[in-house]
Amino acid sequence: MGLIIVGVGGPSSSGKTTICNSLRTILPQCTLIHLDDFYLPDGEIPMDADLQLENWDCPEAIDWPKFQNYIDEIRATGGDVLPVESKESESLLKLSKEEIDEAQTLIERKYPELLNSHVVLIDGFMLYHDVAISNLFDVKLYFRAPYQMLKARREARAGYATSDGFWVDPPGYFDQIVWPQYVLTHKYLFLNDDVEGELKEESKKSGLKDIFNDNTKSIKQLVLLSLDSINDALSHTI
Ligand SMILES: Nc1ncnc2c1ncn2[C@@H]1O[C@H](COP(=O)(O)OP(=O)(O)OP(=O)(O)O)[C@@H](O)[C@H]1O
Ligand SMILES: [Mg+2]
Repeated sequence: MGLIIVGVGGPSSSGKTTICNSLRTILPQCTLIHLDDFYLPDGEIPMDADLQLENWDCPEAIDWPKFQNYIDEIRATGGDVLPVESKESESLLKLSKEEIDEAQTLIERKYPELLNSHVVLIDGFMLYHDVAISNLFDVKLYFRAPYQMLKARREARAGYATSDGFWVDPPGYFDQIVWPQYVLTHKYLFLNDDVEGELKEESKKSGLKDIFNDNTKSIKQLVLLSLDSINDALSHTI
């Protein structure tokens, strides 16, 4: 059985976990891994010196050697490695039973290669900030949404389970930390450094597949777009 490692990246609240959870319900052989399970222990999260707040949105908050070893192990074992125990919770937005049936029929008809592959989905907010990390993935889905929408979604969330507790954003955290850190680490991928604009040609050539999730598409449409992008990337690489 073939192994496909799919990066599902993009800013916080772009819908990565939501779509990964849905993809998992329709792919016959699928393992879902969350980058959030590779955070450093709470006490080692970098502090923002000016704000005197933990910075959960910088690359330095992640244990990259541990993550990279895990991906290497997935490759070495053809995916036969135990998934990391996860702190992620279920998503509110889901496919209906009918939509799951429909999507599964579509996979059989249109994407037979996915039926015979173990698909490992890696869900993370910091997968494309670094070329060496980006290159770990066979397929690179990049979920995006406009700034205002990301901010509204993030501020509506209760918080995040962490290694040792539960993090709740203090007021202003999106504008002070989440968004500036995202811009700083991802602007190099965009024309004129504008993360709200177009990806550079070379970013597209490196395999990034833009998926715009701005509340105008249903979960089903986003799932179908993701399947199409995975299939498209496969036909160019294998
Ligand atoms: N298409 C959509 N329509 C409406 N709400 C959405 C849509 N996509 C995601 N959301 C909502 O936005 C919030 C964030 O989604 P999700 O948890 O999937 O984001 P994420 O990219 O995994 O974020 P993080 O990186 O912070 O984990 C959730 O409350 C989710 O229900
Ligand atoms: Mg998530």
